[in-house]
Amino acid sequence: MSQPRLHIVVGSTRPGRRGPAIAGWFHELALEHAGFDAGLVDLADVGLPLLDEPRPPQRGSYEHAHTRRWSETVSAADAFVFVVPEYNHSYNAATKNALDYLAREWRGKPVAFVGYGGVAAGARAVQALLPVVIALGMVPAAAAVQIPFVRLSFTADGRFEPAPGLDENATGVLDDLLRLTAVRPASRPTAPVG
Ligand SMILES: Cc1cc2nc3c(=O)[nH]c(=O)nc-3n(C[C@H](O)[C@H](O)[C@H](O)COP(=O)(O)O)c2cc1C
Repeated sequence: MSQPRLHIVVGSTRPGRRGPAIAGWFHELALEHAGFDAGLVDLADVGLPLLDEPRPPQRGSYEHAHTRRWSETVSAADAFVFVVPEYNHSYNAATKNALDYLAREWRGKPVAFVGYGGVAAGARAVQALLPVVIALGMVPAAAAVQIPFVRLSFTADGRFEPAPGLDENATGVLDDLLRLTAVRPASRPTAPVG
């Protein structure tokens, strides 16, 4: 049987962001973990404008090519890890916009988070995401990766150097996500919501 497809989503989009280096680290660990067929999805490359579909996403009837492409990308995944920064005690707008674009494509799929920020380690970003993914019918893992004072984990040349214990933390999250993915009935059709 083929492995479940995991999309590791880079949530931040600003120039100079730290998200890609952190997501790259997590991706390497996911490849070593070997439970998933894991790939990176960068919202900066996806390039969605602010939601511009005339019809609610629950209908799955999309006007724009960028939405159809995003729908295909999300439909192809069995599980997700969102790598999200804390912005103003919440998560960043590009992540919310990307979630809001679609509905049934997310439904029933396990999700976990890698949060990062300052003193709160991205915890407020992750906490704010939980009701949103639950509203979309996703299945959040109990475990998350939290990275405090993220700039201290970066070298002068921009490499991410995880603190001791973080690799094990991330592997535990992958284990959790794999358990949730295994119990999901993959072939059940997803009904429209709302
Ligand atoms: C607009 C903005 C708001 C931020 N607000 C917070 C915050 O509320 N709490 C916090 O711990 N860090 C905050 N930070 C620090 C970021 O978490 C940190 O700079 C992180 O690297 C941002 O992710 P990025 O580099 O991938 O964009 C903020 C950064 C930005 C750019």
